[in-house]
Amino acid sequence: MFTDLVLASAHHLLVFLLAAMIAMEAVIVRPDMSGGSARLLSRIDAYYGATAALVLLVGVARVVFGLKGWEAYVYNWAFWLKMVAFAVVGLLSIGPTMQIRKWRKNADEVAFTVLPGDVAKVRGSIRAQIGVFALIPVFAATMARYGY
Ligand code: HEM
Repeated sequence: MFTDLVLASAHHLLVFLLAAMIAMEAVIVRPDMSGGSARLLSRIDAYYGATAALVLLVGVARVVFGLKGWEAYVYNWAFWLKMVAFAVVGLLSIGPTMQIRKWRKNADEVAFTVLPGDVAKVRGSIRAQIGVFALIPVFAATMARYGY
C-alpha cells in the first residue's frame, strides 16, 4: 500500500512537471527569440527529456508494483491507448529537440536570429504535443476504471 502511494504521488508530480516544461517551451519559442532564450530553451528541453524518462520509469514501476497487479494493465485497452499517446508525444518532440540543438549551437553569436519557418515548425510540433498530451489523463482515468 505504501509503495503504491509513493509511486502514485511521484507519478502525479512528474506529470505536472512535464506539463510545465512543455508550457515553458511553448512560451519561449518565438520569432524574436534571443541567444539567451535559446540557451534557456536548451536547458528546459534537457530537463523535459529527463522528466519524461522518469515518468516512464515510475509509470512502469506502478504497473509492476502497483496495488492492482500488472495483469490489470497489460490486458487493458485504455492503458495501451495511453502508452500510444505517450509515445506519440515523444516522437513529436524529436523535431523540436533537433532544432533546439541547432539554435543552442549558434546561441553565443552576437547576431543570433532564428528563421520564422523554423519557429513555425517547432511551435506546430509543440502544439501537437500539447494536444496529444491532453488525451493522456483521459486515458489514465479510463484505464483506472474501465478497459478490462
Ligand atoms: C509510460 C508512461 C506511463 C505509465 C506506464 C503509466 C502508468 C500508470 C499506472 C499504472 C497508473 C495507475 C492507474 C490505476 O490506478 O489503476 C497511472 C495513473 C495515472 N496516470 Fe500514468 N503512466 C504513464 C504516463 C502518464 C502520463 C504522461 C500522464 C499524464 C499526462 C499520466 C497520468 C496519469 C493519471 C492522471 C493517473 C491517475 C488515473 C486515475 O486514478 O484516475 N500517466 N499511470
